[in-house]
Amino acid sequence: MKLTKIEDYWSNVGRTLEERDNEEQVIAGDNDVFYKYKRSRFLQELSTIVEWQDQAILEYGCGPGGNLKFLSQFHPSNLYGVDISSEMLSHAKANTRDLNCPVSLMQNDGKTISLDNKSCDISITSTVLQHNIEDENVIHILRELARISRNKVIVCEHTEKNRKQLHDHFVGRPLSFFASHMEKAGFELKQTQYLNIEVSYFLLGIIRKVFNPKTRKEGESISKISSRMQKLVFPLSRRLDPLWKSNREMTIMVFERVS
Ligand SMILES: C[S@@+](CC[C@H](N)C(=O)[O-])C[C@H]1O[C@@H](n2cnc3c(N)ncnc32)[C@H](O)[C@@H]1O
Repeated sequence: MKLTKIEDYWSNVGRTLEERDNEEQVIAGDNDVFYKYKRSRFLQELSTIVEWQDQAILEYGCGPGGNLKFLSQFHPSNLYGVDISSEMLSHAKANTRDLNCPVSLMQNDGKTISLDNKSCDISITSTVLQHNIEDENVIHILRELARISRNKVIVCEHTEKNRKQLHDHFVGRPLSFFASHMEKAGFELKQTQYLNIEVSYFLLGIIRKVFNPKTRKEGESISKISSRMQKLVFPLSRRLDPLWKSNREMTIMVFERVS
């Protein structure tokens, strides 16, 4: 998918957020039972994975600003949000309006982010690169995140054992892809955390697929039957998730500067 198409795609998703309750406008895609669960598990891990206090943090692909808002509770010194989509950035602006630290939002597709070398302590990106099919773009973005970060780069992505394109705008890459390109940029992989939500991913995903029209676009409301079915199955799938350890799907990689 070309960058202009990526912009269009996410701005369309951004427009669907306006139909939701306030607290769900920070979810940058579908707001069904699975994605709300995934988000809460992700934020749980994020809160303890590194020290956020007094850090200048850049989020690449910040979407409607939910992660920036969440991180603000740890008292960072500055928050920077970058996104390709103007629509997402206007949500981010509204969602980060009254935070307790300075917030700067910028529109950028990763070419050259207008921040100086080592001007942040931590750069983070979450569920963004998997939506960029071209490896060249992703490598360029990883280099930019490394250039800007003094200490750490955190990459949160759907990973697969081998590179696997799951549909026309979604690709899972292996951990080694991220580790090798970050190593070239002077960063070493220090921590890897998996969310381990694979049973829910499959069962609730099948329900979403079967009980919604094929024409439904990401972000649009979920059918009532699909929602009910997910709610029914979720108590079981959530209990099975910890028993099914899998080194794929949502992966949090923490890289630290070594040179
Ligand atoms: C699934 S959302 C994730 C939002 C946020 N990171 C989160 O975890 O809630 C993906 C976001 O990445 C942005 N994005 C995708 N490709 C991008 C690119 N090449 N450059 C900048 N932003 C991009 C989209 O506009 C969208 O807001």
